Order: sequence, then structure tokens, then C-alpha cells
Amino acid sequence: MEQREQWGTRVGFILAAVGSAVGLGNIWRFPYVVYENGGGAFLIPYFFALITAGIPILLLEFGIGRTGRGSAPLSLSKLSRKFEWLGWWQVLISFVITTYYVAVVAWAVSYFFYSFNLSWGEDTKAFLFGTYLGVPDDAVTESGLNLGGLQWHILLPLIAVWAGTYYVLIRGVKKGIEMMSKIFIPILFVLMILIVIRAITLPGAAVGLDHLLTPNFAKILPGFLGGTNPEWYSVWMAAYGQIFFSLSVAFAIMITYSSYMDKKQEVNNSGFIMAFSNCGFEFLAAIGVFAAIGFMAVSTGSEVKDVAASGVGLAFVVFPKIINTFPIFNSAFGMLFFLSLIIAGFTSLISIVEVLIASLMDKFRLTRKAAVNGVVGVCALVSIIYTTGAGIVLLDIIDHFINNFGIVIAGLLEVVLVGWFANITRIREDNNLVSDFRVGTWWNIMIMGVTPLVLLFMSYKNFQLEFTKAYEGYPFYALLTFGWLLVCATLLISFIVAYMFKWKTDIKQEGFRA
Ligand code: ALA
Repeated sequence: MEQREQWGTRVGFILAAVGSAVGLGNIWRFPYVVYENGGGAFLIPYFFALITAGIPILLLEFGIGRTGRGSAPLSLSKLSRKFEWLGWWQVLISFVITTYYVAVVAWAVSYFFYSFNLSWGEDTKAFLFGTYLGVPDDAVTESGLNLGGLQWHILLPLIAVWAGTYYVLIRGVKKGIEMMSKIFIPILFVLMILIVIRAITLPGAAVGLDHLLTPNFAKILPGFLGGTNPEWYSVWMAAYGQIFFSLSVAFAIMITYSSYMDKKQEVNNSGFIMAFSNCGFEFLAAIGVFAAIGFMAVSTGSEVKDVAASGVGLAFVVFPKIINTFPIFNSAFGMLFFLSLIIAGFTSLISIVEVLIASLMDKFRLTRKAAVNGVVGVCALVSIIYTTGAGIVLLDIIDHFINNFGIVIAGLLEVVLVGWFANITRIREDNNLVSDFRVGTWWNIMIMGVTPLVLLFMSYKNFQLEFTKAYEGYPFYALLTFGWLLVCATLLISFIVAYMFKWKTDIKQEGFRA
């Protein structure tokens, strides 16, 4: 078998981890989540979630991967044979995310080129949904799904993104992922700083920033503390959701990346550096986005609340509109924005696909070449579904379910199984032995107590909400097939792979101290 690969340097590892964390979630999700959930006051639940769940789980995953020296299924198996399925479940969640995440990166590639001559025109919404995505009016109705045909202009950038992914991953951990991160991550931060400088010097920027940052404490606090929002807990749930997706925890990425660490490599400080770099980038993006939104609102005489949007709407409808309104250098700003979206998305995509490659290499003793060929081939084929007219509808449903019922529950099971049934104090001590500073028992309390409670509550609320209201009013069969059944299928397959296929790797070769 090939020798397990390793990062060349500590900086290389940190940059790769930051590359995974900083992704689409930071640019198009975070700004709106802050705005919608109490503005500046959201920072309280956000940092609370970071300290109670984000960083503790990150350090746990670093510890599991570093000591287990294997992909998520292998490292978890070394902790206990009974945990293997959880590793596979996280791998399958990553598989599902890969197939639509790549589509969004492909859209960003198209829009990068559209920036040259602002080809999206004045009505950016009609352009996105009609001309570009080609969404049929009856994409999803009570009587079925209408895929609406393949959109060749999406397929082409999709193939290009897959080609780039293949190129990086076939070169391996050090020459591929690490080298890419060392080049792209500094570029990404510079691009974002340029975007922010340009955005905050626009007329009206202060109006947007004011809306973003003015704290609304009444929104985040329960009634007995002076809050006025009966659903104040949804703000805290949003903070946890953001932290999970953004830090790339609970979908096997950080276990995989830390499995390529040198045994003596520093852990705790690297985790904090990575987490705070991710937050820093997230804040930069929020400032850039809302300054631009403020400019747009002021120059068109609209309200900030009418301009602001999240997700697909923000990146591919609002931003093109803002770019149209720019006084000068419209195309240059458009290219900057979409290039940063491409780089942020691409470096995260690489980490999600590597999860699949590493786990197949470990379980079936495949060479990297065989695993990359198989994984990229299969994922590329599946991702074609998102280049059809109904792709965005499928993406919306699948993303919603995989986040709320995949990542959140996989995270809950991770902290409960590992936290309660494995010796996590030993993992903490092992991390401490090689780290710049020690992490104390507060970490155990978070992993074993606080995080499971919060995630349990979130899961309960998510189920409750789902059963009281059809997500976005989609027909029942669509939510059943692409939501519930898909999530259940990933869970079922994870048990099948864990219990019906034998390891071709000796899972006891190295491992955790008793
Ligand atoms: N952490 C990655 C993101 O924020 C997945 O998009």
C-alpha cells in the first residue's frame, strides 16, 4: 500500500484547513444570517457557538484524525469498531454536498466571464432563472418533476471545475492540496480586502453597514431577559448552523485533513488560528457585501431590507445588479467578486472530495489514482443533474435537508458517541502534549454536555418545523424523495458499507491509547 501522505509544513496544513473552511458559506450565507438575526447582537450567539461547539469539535476532529491517521471511517473505527458507520455517514453527506457545491462553483465561473460585458443585463433575476438556469415554470409540481433539459452553458464550466479538481487531487496532499492552498488562500484574502476597500468607499456604504451592525438585542434574548422575539432561539440555532457549515466540522473533512499531520505537529493553536481566520474572513465578507448593498439601496432609492438577500439570490441576482450600478470599473469589480467566490468555493470543494478519496483508499486499499478516477468520475456524473433546468430546485431541497438533518444530526452523534463512549480526556491530553498551549476540562464539558444539548434541541426544532410547514411550500413527494429519503439512504448505505465490507487495511496498525 502507498505510504500515508503528509503535509509538508504546519503552515501548509493551516492554509488547507482555512481553504476548506472559507467557502461559499462565508461569502453568500454569513452576511445575510447576521443581518437577519439581530445584526451586531448576533455576534453574541455566534461567538458562543464558536467557543462551545465550533472550536471544541474542531479540536476533537483534529485529535481523532491526527492519532487515528486515517480517513473519518478509519480513524473512528480505531476509536471503536462501533463508530465506523458514523464515519461513512459523514462521508456520504460529503458526497451529496460535493455534487451540488461544484455546480455553484461552476455558476460562479460563468458569471466571472459574464462580468466582462455585464451580459446579465438589467433584469438579473430573469437572467439567472430564465436565461442561465433555464428553470421551467413547472420544474416541481404536485404531478412530478420536469428537469427541463440540460443547460450546456452550465455543463461546460462544470467540466472545467471537475478538471481542476482532478488535477489538484491526483497530485496528492502535499503537491496538490497544500500547494494549491498556499497559492490560493493568500490571493483570496487580498481579493476580499480589495472588494471591501472598494465597497466601503462607495456612497451609501455606511447605510448598509449600519443595518448590518446595529445590534438588536431584543431579537436574540428570551422574554424574561427583555427579548421581544418569541422565536429568539432560532437566532441561536442559526449561529450554530453557520459555525458548523463554515468551519467544515461534522462532515469528515477535518478528520481527513488532520490525518495527514505529522505526529508531532502542533494542534490546539492551529485550530484556533484556523477558526479565527475563518471568522475574520467571514466578517470581511459581511462588511464588503453590506457596504455594497447600502450603496445599491441609496443609489436606487430603495430600502436596505428590499435589496438584501441570501444565498443564490445574493451572489447571482443582487451582486450583478450592484455591479451594473457601479459608477466606474463595473466589470473589474464583478470579476473580483466572482473570482473570490470561485477560489473560496474551489478550495472547499477540494476538501470535500478528498474526504471521499481518503476513505475509499483506506477501506479498499486503493491507490490515489484509482480512488481519484472513481470518485471524480462518479461525482461528476451525478452533478450533471444540477445542470438541468430543475437543478436549482433540487439543490435547494437537498441542501436544506442535508444541512438540517445530515450535518446537525451527524454532529450530535459524533459528540455523543465519541464524547461519552470514548476516552476523550486522552484525546485532549494527546493534543496538549504537542501543542503550544493546553486545553483544559472546559473542553470536555463542551463536548459531553453543552454541544449535545444544543444540537439535540436544534434537531428537535428542525423536525418540528419540518412537520408543521412544507419547506418553501414544495410538494410533499419532492420533499420526501430529495429530502427525507435521500438523508435516510445516506444513513442506510453507511451501515451497509461499515458492516458488509471488510477493511483491507489493518485498522489496528496504530491507534489511540487506552
Ligand atoms: N466550509 C465551507 C463553506 O463555508 C464548506 O462553504
